[in-house]
Amino acid sequence: MILVPSILSADFGILAEQIKKCENAGAEWLHIDVMDGHFVPNISFAMPVIKSIRKYTDMFFDVHLMITEPERYINDFIDCGADGVTFHIEATDFPDRCIEMIRSRGKLAGISIKPDTPVERIIPYLEKVDMVLVMSVEPGYGGQEYITAVNEKIKYLREIKGEYFKIEVDGGVRENNIDSVLAAGANVIVAGSAVFNGDIESNIKRLMR
Ligand code: DX5
Ligand code: ZN
Repeated sequence: MILVPSILSADFGILAEQIKKCENAGAEWLHIDVMDGHFVPNISFAMPVIKSIRKYTDMFFDVHLMITEPERYINDFIDCGADGVTFHIEATDFPDRCIEMIRSRGKLAGISIKPDTPVERIIPYLEKVDMVLVMSVEPGYGGQEYITAVNEKIKYLREIKGEYFKIEVDGGVRENNIDSVLAAGANVIVAGSAVFNGDIESNIKRLMR
């Protein structure tokens, strides 16, 4: 599995320091949540922050775009250091174009669905993407409860895509449910509050499998 700390729950005053702690604890990916106050009812941060932290680490930057019309900004996010870009199927009329924009620049292309979006919506794109991000909370905020019903989508995707495909799960994962999320078939696990609330390094070590 890949454990991916989500910096949404980090202390932004000492962000670089906290990212170093994630790296020292053995995390190889970093989850970066971009919110526009339109696709989701919250605003987070964007290019300047990503560009700044890019200088401090070689971790894989897993950028999760919770923004309307992601095609307008994908190139900018890649320019400022994204290694992978995931967009929401609900946020664009041009999913093929988004995938092409990401892949033509040699980056990992991810497609995401919100908890209420049927998995069928992304079937036409599964051959073209490198990863599916299954949201297990309503996107917008850290620290919410895991919606167990999404395990069915994870199981289904694992069945049809085989053992190596990247299925990322984001929202509400912590020590007491991570094993069931992995058992459902996820292999890339985002954790925000479970990593950044308390001691980062020991939290990560306890979540890793
Ligand atoms: C929610 C974000 C998540 C969030 C997860 O919209 O996409 O990445 O940071 O936080 P936790 O792990 O606290 O649910
Ligand atoms: Zn996220």
